[in-house]
Amino acid sequence: IQLQPYNSFRTKARAKLFCEPGSVEELSKVLRIYPDEPKLVIGSGCNLFFTKDFDGLVIHPAMRGICLLSENDSTVELEAAAGEDWDDFVNYCVKKGYAGIENLSLIPGTVGAAPIQNIGAYGTEVKDAIVRVHTVNKNTGKPETFSAEACEFGYRDSIFKRTRQHIVTSVVFRLSKSFAYMEKYADLNRELASVAYPSLQQVREAIIRIRRCKLPDPAELPNAGSFFKNPLLTMEEKERLLTKLPDAPIYPIGTDKFKTSAAFLIEKAGYKGKRNESVGIYERHALIIVNYATENGSDIIDFMEEVQQAVDEKFGILLEPEVRIY
Ligand code: EPU
Repeated sequence: IQLQPYNSFRTKARAKLFCEPGSVEELSKVLRIYPDEPKLVIGSGCNLFFTKDFDGLVIHPAMRGICLLSENDSTVELEAAAGEDWDDFVNYCVKKGYAGIENLSLIPGTVGAAPIQNIGAYGTEVKDAIVRVHTVNKNTGKPETFSAEACEFGYRDSIFKRTRQHIVTSVVFRLSKSFAYMEKYADLNRELASVAYPSLQQVREAIIRIRRCKLPDPAELPNAGSFFKNPLLTMEEKERLLTKLPDAPIYPIGTDKFKTSAAFLIEKAGYKGKRNESVGIYERHALIIVNYATENGSDIIDFMEEVQQAVDEKFGILLEPEVRIY
């Protein structure tokens, strides 16, 4: 099967085997049938691309459904199946008045992919709303449940991302039945400045406006969102950066780590809007690599390395891709 429709960068590659399990039982069964094939799970494919054919089994989870598990005066627990579209789920929660994930509006992808890299935006990370994650073990085909703590969530990170041993089948969220807007992120505060008490729906709409204006729609211009992670720096690295770039944004993480903006570094290295015939940096956001005209993943790699080298030479920081490369 051709994988071009299954990655938002639209690079070409073939998979030897492909399946779309609609239930946990179907998934367990297919894992038992092909115990020795290498396996790759793809949600909506908007955070990965291919540089070569995949000689194994690609699994595209297709379980659907949202179900209310329990409720009290202040919170609800909802279970959403892995194959649900993430933003449809956020929209469902906002319409019901359930708060906690509205800042994650319009993030492309599926519910099953959300915990893998602990999606985050506008001061919220999905881990804060997750109670537990139901999975199937890739090797045994058996169901395994992870409490939020057992998921070992970090910035764009989890145990699932590190070990690649589990396929998420559904996620249980705890959301709040009341909502009061909290100022956490400058861009969002600006967008909501004229609203005295923003409602859940107004926050969702503000985020959708910001994202539509900054980020290219993969359906029009193939891309995979933020291409690089925002680098984490030690105190020394931060001081060194500030001598070279005194206006670099610095966000303290805990007491001895600092995050800076990869977009800012790329822009200062002169790469915002820069492109070759087929690949380039988006002109409105320096963290996004867009595919203008290639079906070949290695063209994206070449351009990625060019950007990494430019930033490293100028500022001594090696940007790490956030996108997965196969
Ligand atoms: N900036 C620039 N040049 C640009 C764009 C941004 O210098 O072209 C600087 C500015 O200083 C700006 C700062 O970067 O204030 C932050 O920009 P933005 O709010 O867009 O956030 P980001 O760090 O670029 C992260 C996430 C996004 C998420 C936004 C909003 C990562 C890798 N990316 O981007 O997530 O939507 O914050 O919270 O953490 C994704 O993961 O695919 C993604 C889009």
